Amino acid sequence: MSVTAVVGAQWGDEGKGKLAHILGSSHDLILRYQGGSNAGHTVIADGTTYKFKLIPSGILHEGKLNLLCDGVVVNVLTLAEEITGLRERNQFRGELLISRHAHLVLPLHCMQDVYFEEAKGKRAIGTTRRGIGPAYADKYFRVGLRAGDMLKDNFGHRVREMARRKNVLFTGYYGQAEVDPDQVWAQVEPTVEILAPLVGDSTKVVRQALADGRKILCEGAQGTLLDIDYGTYPYVTSSHPVSGGALLGTGLSWRDLDRVVGISKAYTTRVGAGPFPTEDLGEEGERMREAGAEYGTVTGRPRRCGWLDLPLLKYASQLSGFTELALTKTDVLDDLAKIKVCVAYQSNGETITWPDLDPDVLEKCTPVYENLTGWETATTAIRQEADLPSAFKDYIRFIEDYVELPVSIISVGADATATIFR
Ligand code: IMP
Repeated sequence: MSVTAVVGAQWGDEGKGKLAHILGSSHDLILRYQGGSNAGHTVIADGTTYKFKLIPSGILHEGKLNLLCDGVVVNVLTLAEEITGLRERNQFRGELLISRHAHLVLPLHCMQDVYFEEAKGKRAIGTTRRGIGPAYADKYFRVGLRAGDMLKDNFGHRVREMARRKNVLFTGYYGQAEVDPDQVWAQVEPTVEILAPLVGDSTKVVRQALADGRKILCEGAQGTLLDIDYGTYPYVTSSHPVSGGALLGTGLSWRDLDRVVGISKAYTTRVGAGPFPTEDLGEEGERMREAGAEYGTVTGRPRRCGWLDLPLLKYASQLSGFTELALTKTDVLDDLAKIKVCVAYQSNGETITWPDLDPDVLEKCTPVYENLTGWETATTAIRQEADLPSAFKDYIRFIEDYVELPVSIISVGADATATIFR
């Protein structure tokens, strides 16, 4: 199989970083197709913990080409810092290419994100404040700056021009102080030297790689339920985490995609505001947060925790055409005697299985649970399917039957080796 996509099936944080790292070892190119430094990937390999914001973890390996493709938004300060840090630690071993079409996130976008969130008050989305929404808004308003613009002589002029335009918004709409366009440029200018040599035509590179029979891995960020169109709008991110985003964001076509691995935790988490039908606000939710270290990689915020929601998982599977599932963090449930799984909702007196993601509707849905028997056994050291407790296997089978997909990978711990391939 030449092209595989790894797609988040929930509200992000499903463990895509670990999976992409494992699958990446058998691929030549690793592509990010959407999102920006709102994503945080933690990879634990060889006893070392690596935290990535923008660069795929393939950068740790010689001979791997890592691409930030057309659909990504690149925070110039964050990326320059990430590259410099990796180089200083001798971890910048692969290659990195930034699409000339990728839009840039400047400090101005981060400020706008904060002002916007503060102005919304109680209705705030709970963004990561990394300027993602404002950068995509500028892209679609056709006033954004792209990585390719860094190669042009007038880049400094255009950054200052953008600062002047944002000032109208900052002072007039948000009642904030003006920024000094020269100061903004002074922040951005040093990044050009680091980033500009890495900018190129990523679509051409991707098409050539396909023609040469090289293997490509598309690494999603966030998850299906945060998709701008298919998620719980407006409590979503501003890009397309679904597999369609991997096509729009890279220059691949649907003909090229062979395998789509949907990634889901064995339970559910969400950061930020928005509906979450299976959220457990009691002791068990708290237990999942502590056992699963459910605190945001980017912002450190505690994640909201709850039970696996199968109608939403099936919805995600259908939207992205998952060919299989990877189930992560199953070990977090190791202690539980009973495990709840949502199989339907009660909505307006009816039992439904097709979710309506309109927040006003979804938050009024009451989950219908099946109570499954827990395995109450420590599983993190298990590496063979045959050694898994039978209640654990029943849990997997229950999910497979509902979603009508095989669970091909089970992650029983944070380390790359704590993985069972079936
Ligand atoms: P934004 O992407 O920063 O605009 O945030 C929009 C929503 O997506 C907020 O609810 C964030 O908490 C959520 N979000 C963005 N990136 C991630 C992620 O990588 N993991 C989990 N949630 C995320």
